[in-house]
Amino acid sequence: MPAILAPSILAANYAHLQQDVEQSIKGGAQWIHCDIMDGHFVPNISYGPMIVDTVNKFSDVFLDVHLMIYNVDQYIPEFVKVGADLISVHIEAVPHIHRSVQLIKSFGIQSGVAVNPGTSLTQLEAILPDVDLVVVMSVNPGFGGQKFIESTYERVKWLDEFRKKHGLAFKIEIDGGVGLQNAKQLVTVGADVLVAGSSVYGAPNIELRASELLALANS
Ligand code: DX5
Ligand code: ZN
Repeated sequence: MPAILAPSILAANYAHLQQDVEQSIKGGAQWIHCDIMDGHFVPNISYGPMIVDTVNKFSDVFLDVHLMIYNVDQYIPEFVKVGADLISVHIEAVPHIHRSVQLIKSFGIQSGVAVNPGTSLTQLEAILPDVDLVVVMSVNPGFGGQKFIESTYERVKWLDEFRKKHGLAFKIEIDGGVGLQNAKQLVTVGADVLVAGSSVYGAPNIELRASELLALANS
C-alpha cells in the first residue's frame, strides 16, 4: 500500500485555508490532519470543531482529527457531527481508553490512539486490536515546526513487528517534524501515514511539496 500524506492545517494560512487545502490535495494528499489543542493537555490552544466543519464543507477529503485534549468523551460527538472520518485520542489524556475508542467506533468512523515520545509503547498493547490507527508522536505535541525525534524509527519498527506478529491491521501514522529529509526512511521502517504541517503549508509551492513528499515516501 502506498503511503498516505496527511498535511496538518495547523501550519496553513487561515486567510486562504480552502486554497491551501485544495493545493495540497492536488499534490496528492489523501487525508487532512486536524490538530485540536485545549491549552491543558498541551501548552497551546489551536481551534475547535468549527474549522473541521469549514474544511468538511468545501472538500470531501478524509478528515483525520487528532485530539490533544482532556475530556475526550464529551467532545467526540461534536467532531463526528462536523465530519471527522477518524478521531485519535491520546493514551496519556484519557482514563478509560477502551471506552473512548468504543465511543468513536459507535459512530461508524475510524478510531486512533496517539502516543507521546516519552510513553512506553507497551502501554498500548491492550488497545491495539481495537484501533485503526496509531499516531506515533515524533515531537512533544503542542506546536508545529518542531525538530523530529530520531528514536521514532525504533518505535515504528516495534509497532510494525507487533502488528505482524499479532495479525493486526492498524495503520501507523507519524506526527511531527516530518519532511523531505525523513519521509522515505519512515515508510521503510513501517509508517503508512505521514503528517506534515510546516513542510507542506510552509512551502513556497504547496502542491509541489506535497507531490515531492509523496514521491519520496513511495520511492
Ligand atoms: C503537534 C501536532 C502536529 C503538528 C505537525 O502537536 O500534532 O500535527 O502540527 O507539524 P509539523 O509538521 O510542522 O511538525
Ligand atoms: Zn497532529
